[in-house]
Amino acid sequence: MSIAHGIRLLGVLGAGQMGTGIALVSALRAKVPVLIHDRSQDQISKGFSLIDKLLAKDVSKGRLQQSEADEARSRLRVVDSVDAMRDVDMVIEAVTENLDLKRTLFRGFAEKLRPDAILATNTSSISITKIAAAVIPDGKTAASEEGKASSGRVVGLHFFNPVPVMKLVELISAVQTSKDTLDRARAFAEACGKEVATSQDVPGFVSNALLMPFINEAIICLEKGVATRDDIDKTFRLGMNHPMGPLQLADFIGLDTCLSIQQTLYNGTSDSKYRPSVLLERMVDAEWLGRKSGKGFYEYKDE
Ligand code: 3HC
Repeated sequence: MSIAHGIRLLGVLGAGQMGTGIALVSALRAKVPVLIHDRSQDQISKGFSLIDKLLAKDVSKGRLQQSEADEARSRLRVVDSVDAMRDVDMVIEAVTENLDLKRTLFRGFAEKLRPDAILATNTSSISITKIAAAVIPDGKTAASEEGKASSGRVVGLHFFNPVPVMKLVELISAVQTSKDTLDRARAFAEACGKEVATSQDVPGFVSNALLMPFINEAIICLEKGVATRDDIDKTFRLGMNHPMGPLQLADFIGLDTCLSIQQTLYNGTSDSKYRPSVLLERMVDAEWLGRKSGKGFYEYKDE
């Protein structure tokens, strides 16, 4: 028998590519009303125009009835603060990768949201255990019943870009995460139409601990002149049937994001195999960040 996720109202913090995608699959597939908050109105506008475009495409391709698209759209509502999320059963945070920022946000969630709300993060490499340690109520210890109950609600739900297309969600348990939180978070991801793979809370989890050294090695190959950009990518597209070569994928993810994950891996393990390449660092210094900045390993004229 499948476990009920019990999410009747969801909050999504951050309306970037990931937050927008998570909000869309939650409203469309899990059919859950979603409250979205982002400090940037520009980000909200961009996110909603992408959602409208994707829903319209699904209708035009006959994969969705217009009424289903309208219903999904009506489940999405922008709110102007986290305070307006006080009744949510789960919040999914999808903001910038910064531990201090996430700890502050999660502390706010613990104070403002219902005591039984699940507090999920879409982080791609930051320790869920460190985030969970931030939600212990003032005056209580981590070992107290209140401390355990509060941090037991924190979990990693790592979606992949583009969220509406990629079939996986990585489920990461902090040391403190309760079984109930894990079961419900898994059930929610499945209701969004995703397959779930679980990982321990290690730097990069399974996905980025494997992907980032691969991308980094491709950049080192380019740096050393082992092969050209196009031949490196062609090798993986045609030789291994990857949808994108590693340099294309790095541009797609964002070179600053790749560097930040690689730094988390390197700092978190002290293992030299994770040391970011000098070329990647220089490209980020130059603000060549991949698709989002119009230049990375490739040029993007119309994006
Ligand atoms: N949002 C939603 N849908 C999108 C999209 C987006 N940003 N970009 C593309 N799509 C959809 C298209 O609309 C199209 O849908 P359709 O079949 O219904 O018409 C479908 O994806 C295929 O798109 P295209 O035909 O334009 O292009 P491709 O066939 O080249 O596919 C791709 C594009 C799906 C991005 C494919 O190249 C791919 O799978 N690339 C690898 C992506 C990947 O590895 N993602 C994971 C990155 S790692 C990560 O996210 C973790 C983080 O922690 C770093």
